[in-house]
Amino acid sequence: MDNNEMLRVSGISKSFPGVKALDCVDFSLRKAEIHALVGENGAGKSTLMNILSGVIPQDEGKLVIDQKIQKFNGPLDAVKAGIGIVFQELSLIQNLSVAENLFAGRQKTNFAGFIDFRNLYARTRELLSAFSESIDPRTPVKNLSIAKQQVVEILKAVSHNPKILILDEPTSSLTHKEIDKLFRLLEEMKTNGISIIYISHHIQEIFRIADRVTVLRDGKYIATRNVAEIDEPEVVSLMVGRKITHNHINRDSSIDRNTPVLQVRNFSHKKYFSDINFEVFKGEIVSMAGLVGAGRTEIARAIFGLLKPSHGTLLINGKKITPNSPVEAIAGGIAYATENRKSDGLFLDMTISENSIAPQLINFTHRRTDFLDQHKIDSFVENTIRTYGIRTSTAQAETRKLSGGNQQKVLLSMWLGVAPKVLIVDEPTKGVDIGAKNEIFSILRHLADTGTAILVISSDLLEIIAISDRVLVVKNGRISGEMPHQEITEKRVIAYASGIASNNS
Ligand SMILES: Nc1ncnc2c1ncn2[C@@H]1O[C@H](COP(=O)(O)OP(=O)(O)OP(=O)(O)O)[C@@H](O)[C@H]1O
Ligand SMILES: [Mg+2]
Repeated sequence: MDNNEMLRVSGISKSFPGVKALDCVDFSLRKAEIHALVGENGAGKSTLMNILSGVIPQDEGKLVIDQKIQKFNGPLDAVKAGIGIVFQELSLIQNLSVAENLFAGRQKTNFAGFIDFRNLYARTRELLSAFSESIDPRTPVKNLSIAKQQVVEILKAVSHNPKILILDEPTSSLTHKEIDKLFRLLEEMKTNGISIIYISHHIQEIFRIADRVTVLRDGKYIATRNVAEIDEPEVVSLMVGRKITHNHINRDSSIDRNTPVLQVRNFSHKKYFSDINFEVFKGEIVSMAGLVGAGRTEIARAIFGLLKPSHGTLLINGKKITPNSPVEAIAGGIAYATENRKSDGLFLDMTISENSIAPQLINFTHRRTDFLDQHKIDSFVENTIRTYGIRTSTAQAETRKLSGGNQQKVLLSMWLGVAPKVLIVDEPTKGVDIGAKNEIFSILRHLADTGTAILVISSDLLEIIAISDRVLVVKNGRISGEMPHQEITEKRVIAYASGIASNNS
């Protein structure tokens, strides 16, 4: 037994109806180590973390923390044993303030038994300063961007002073700057002797901060390696058992440059963007690159009728439309798969089947009786699950029970049957593993081949290079650069996004 060991997991198994999520998994974490855990969507990473944090019990196997065998009967036991976790999905209470979220249930009261807000705010500010964040502790969480919410979520786990900190995909909605800050914080915690388990689909991150990496595949332990002794292709091949690259496919012949499907003219909004002009042609995939917070999501929301521009016109197939709501936008042929699958994309309590037909119920209704045509639904959904490679034992599974990446696939699949004229997808592969990314790319290309104009918002440069026929770079609410796919390079996109280059220079 390694004296330097903080945590040992041996022979952990966990089954859910129809799936063995973990199959006799071993894992070990040293003191003051950053240990990355990787694997494809559905490999069992979050399930293992849910067991370590007392959210669910294991069927079999043993947990030893700091030389002591532990049996958790709930999340509180895990907190007491020194485990802090940042869950894959945000768990903050939207209507409460940042301070209340950070210290929920742990607020100090003053002599009269009231919550001592002064103390609460002071402690919150102290915590926020670890991230050099200047958020007002009284801000309701719902007023924060997703990136800032994620920061609060991380600080909430840190505030318990854990011995072991688990982060399940913490960076999927963080900006580059915030990722740097997070990594600095993690390094500092490591120096203070804290052990960290780090889950990410961004393999490059592992090489920046992790000491060791463990790979899971199909619920099974595959390998543990020192990061210094392994390279990226090797990690990927351990994960998926094959080599994977994202290549751009030339689609020029499928694009009809005489037919602009989406035209945005002089779009402006007092707060978020100004003078936005662009078009997406029939069959074309255009992406909007830029830093998180540059205004891309707001432009998408304005097109979809969720945000009213103060100025400008929108044309679909040459016809002006002014959608005042998503319903009107959908009727006009626009579909929007949002970046936040949890709060405004999926209905997590409903089944995969119910979600995937939600935007197009009318297509599954008998014309005369108004009843749903179950047979038609079943065969549509079965086809969807197959095309998207959604990992589930049944179409009747609650969407909440799918792994993060598989939820993302369900979200995208909702628009497959709608065959919109314009499809806007915001961070389409967020939380999706490297293999499933290619599946999603080919689905988007297929949709474009059938004539849909696609607008992709992405913060992943490699994804932009792989998928875009053309890229628009957005900076501070304006389009600062544009290039056709032959000219897209990481360097150029970053230059435009950060203001080093501009279209006029
Ligand atoms: N509560 C649950 N009920 C039923 N099945 C579940 C439940 N939780 C997880 N599963 C299943 O267990 C398997 C492992 O899921 P898990 O969430 O651990 O994967 P993951 O490695 O975290 O994937 P991702 O990278 O997509 O987040 C999946 O097949 C998933 O559908
Ligand atoms: Mg997960």
